[in-house]
Amino acid sequence: MRWETVEDYDAMSRRAAAIFLDAVRNTPSVALGLPTGGTPLGMYRRIVAECSTTHHCFRDATTFNLDEYVGLAPSDPRSYCAYMRENLFAHVDLDPSRMHIPDGLATRIRERNPGIPLEHALDLECAAYEESIARAGGLDLTFLGLGRNGHIAFNEPGSPFESRTRVVTLTRETRDANACYFPEGEVPSHAITMGVGTILSSRSIVLLASGSSKREAVERLRSAEVTEEFPASALHLHSDTIVICDEQSVA
Ligand code: F6R
Repeated sequence: MRWETVEDYDAMSRRAAAIFLDAVRNTPSVALGLPTGGTPLGMYRRIVAECSTTHHCFRDATTFNLDEYVGLAPSDPRSYCAYMRENLFAHVDLDPSRMHIPDGLATRIRERNPGIPLEHALDLECAAYEESIARAGGLDLTFLGLGRNGHIAFNEPGSPFESRTRVVTLTRETRDANACYFPEGEVPSHAITMGVGTILSSRSIVLLASGSSKREAVERLRSAEVTEEFPASALHLHSDTIVICDEQSVA
């Protein structure tokens, strides 16, 4: 695991955007794993700004988002699908047929299998997501944020390191941290997430951490103790991971 500590959120976002754009430039058919949440917003803003001044071709790239809430339609403004449309997809020339986000309603599967229980349809959605990643040749480069409890994607403490894409129950802590995105109503209790094993299969990984709220998690990651109780620690088992954190997130 390589560590890069940069001055602030802007510097972290610039560095992450540069890695992202280099990957697309060097390997136009790159398969990217993409996060949502507050941390990568600056990286996406930077990518979009770069694209408005210099031509970057995303047409052959494939994207796989890390996660999506169960129960939200892709059109729901609180969905990660809407987040990606707003912050990246609407602004770059990615091919819509190559953008993948788990469907938290498993709509296509339910249409094809009338009467199938939602739970079963979601399991099929997760299996199909893993198959799509495999068909794309696996993930080349995956960006991650860091949960305060050490979650990566929505792999909460206790997630097996060999886990693959599946439905998970979100902890109260994670739901509280995301409550600001749900001013009316509750944060969904379940999500579809890539597994820790899915993430570890990515050839390269970049984890981003910013701000004092991440200090404890960053410190625990630095301690290099590897335990399923702290999912991000699985990244110590990966041979090409960079952690880019800002000074505020380092105690
Ligand atoms: C989101 C995701 C989560 C977030 C994490 C940190 O797709 O996978 O693991 O990266 O909850 O969220 P922020 O960046 O909002 O602090």
